[in-house]
Amino acid sequence: MIHKINEASDYIKSKLDIKPDVGLILGSGLGVLAEEITNRTVIKYEDIPNFPVSTVEGHAGQFVVGHLQDKKVMAMQGRFHFYEGYDMEEIVLPVRVMYKLGIENLLVTNAAGGINRNFDPGNFMIIQDHINLMGDNPLKGENIEEFGPRFPDMSEVYNEELRELAEKIAVENKINIVKGNYVALSGPSYETPAEIRHLRTAGADAVGMSTVPETITANHMGMNILGISCITNMAAGVLPQPLDHKEVVEIAEKVKPEFSTLIKGILKEM
Ligand code: HPA
Repeated sequence: MIHKINEASDYIKSKLDIKPDVGLILGSGLGVLAEEITNRTVIKYEDIPNFPVSTVEGHAGQFVVGHLQDKKVMAMQGRFHFYEGYDMEEIVLPVRVMYKLGIENLLVTNAAGGINRNFDPGNFMIIQDHINLMGDNPLKGENIEEFGPRFPDMSEVYNEELRELAEKIAVENKINIVKGNYVALSGPSYETPAEIRHLRTAGADAVGMSTVPETITANHMGMNILGISCITNMAAGVLPQPLDHKEVVEIAEKVKPEFSTLIKGILKEM
């Protein structure tokens, strides 16, 4: 594994003339932010040794490295999902590569369904904590000691200072911001109303099919993590209508300007 990670990071390093400081994972429909990166180098996943290629609609499959605000960022335009059939090791390879390239700060975004009845589609949720119900863990198997301990503490995966900063930036820009716990399921089927009632009882505020593998891995390596969910729909059974991936993409599209303001504001003061 470590050999695969090194090969991939060596290849990327050979293509870059800057050293990025912030990793940015852009979720479903939110990848457009990468278009605003200047002095950019684009590296397609398919050209990187050992990298899987992303297949889902609405996701490009590339890193965009360059400047955003005054930060040097490495953005993932498109990520790998468990429901696409990738192994956990493949899903978290990009985060490990980011760490190998010297990145210590990770900003992760996703589209999620709102479980908390006080939420509305179009809200952004600062992830306070998560519940991993994917049925797998990216740290399973032999531990890579140079990355972190066998049994990593998970008491504060999502950095408190970064969460406070995100809230401050949202308030300053009059962006609807909420806070809560993100629960990750494997997908690809959406949840049933009964599952959503169960998850609400368990303390979940939003549900999605990503992010948790990457943040478990980043936390293992001691990275500073901020997670932001775009609430693209209310979860199954909350409203009387069925769920549709189109709705997810539409809302993500609609909130693009606010999303961009929020992320750039955070980057600026990070
Ligand atoms: N459930 C799971 N994943 C999602 C949802 C949802 O309602 N919306 C966006 N991603």
